[in-house]
Amino acid sequence: MRKKIVAGNWKMNENLQEGIILAKEINTVLEADKPNCGVVICTPFIHLASVAQVLNKSLVSLGAENCADKEKGAYTGEISAAMVKSTGAEYVILGHSERRQYYNETPEILKEKVRLALDNGLKVIFCCGETLEEREAEKQNAIVKAELENSVFNLSSTDWENIILAYEPIWAIGTGKTATSDQAEEMLAYIRSIVAEKYGREAADDTTILYGGSCNPGNAAELFSKPDIDGGLIGGASLKTSDFKAIIDAWKK
Ligand code: PGA
Repeated sequence: MRKKIVAGNWKMNENLQEGIILAKEINTVLEADKPNCGVVICTPFIHLASVAQVLNKSLVSLGAENCADKEKGAYTGEISAAMVKSTGAEYVILGHSERRQYYNETPEILKEKVRLALDNGLKVIFCCGETLEEREAEKQNAIVKAELENSVFNLSSTDWENIILAYEPIWAIGTGKTATSDQAEEMLAYIRSIVAEKYGREAADDTTILYGGSCNPGNAAELFSKPDIDGGLIGGASLKTSDFKAIIDAWKK
């Protein structure tokens, strides 16, 4: 059975001290009132080792927001998948539209990153999603399919077990514009159908697929009530403990 997950993506927010405080707060509220879904917080690299020390791993898992497309060596400023893993992190977000858009991460680069992450024992939260223009031209299915085909559909069935997908329409990220729950469900059902074509029905049913893009305490329960939506990848609302907790609690409704 696939796992329900609420994952926070802190992006480039919080200095180290603030990040530790936020992680402790999240940990405390979840210890007091246990979640009934998996919870992951994905933080900037510099926070990982310290945040790993304050989390109760049975309640909150840790992830990075990126990793390098090279194994090791003379790549000044880069952080490898092995380094991420050595902090205690279990997950890494790859393929986020902000990385594709601002840092020119191509499908080929992402394919390498995914391979290195999996080889180093990380679980990958792989993002896909279309722009507003592409949606208006009704190309969203083709775009998402190509993103998956070009970076993750090359994986073996065994590797696939460590992939979580996140559909994040670019027009809904940080804009306050959420996809309607019907739009999100339609896309997630489509994604599950192409996963089934590639890996079989059983694997598709076991694949966790998240929705991301302006998910908040007001819309999470409605989104999570849909059969193919297994949780959320949360940006802005993951920086406030009460909002993040309220989204986690949407699984209790
Ligand atoms: P948002 O970001 O929740 O702030 O829209 C989601 C994401 O980019 O992962």
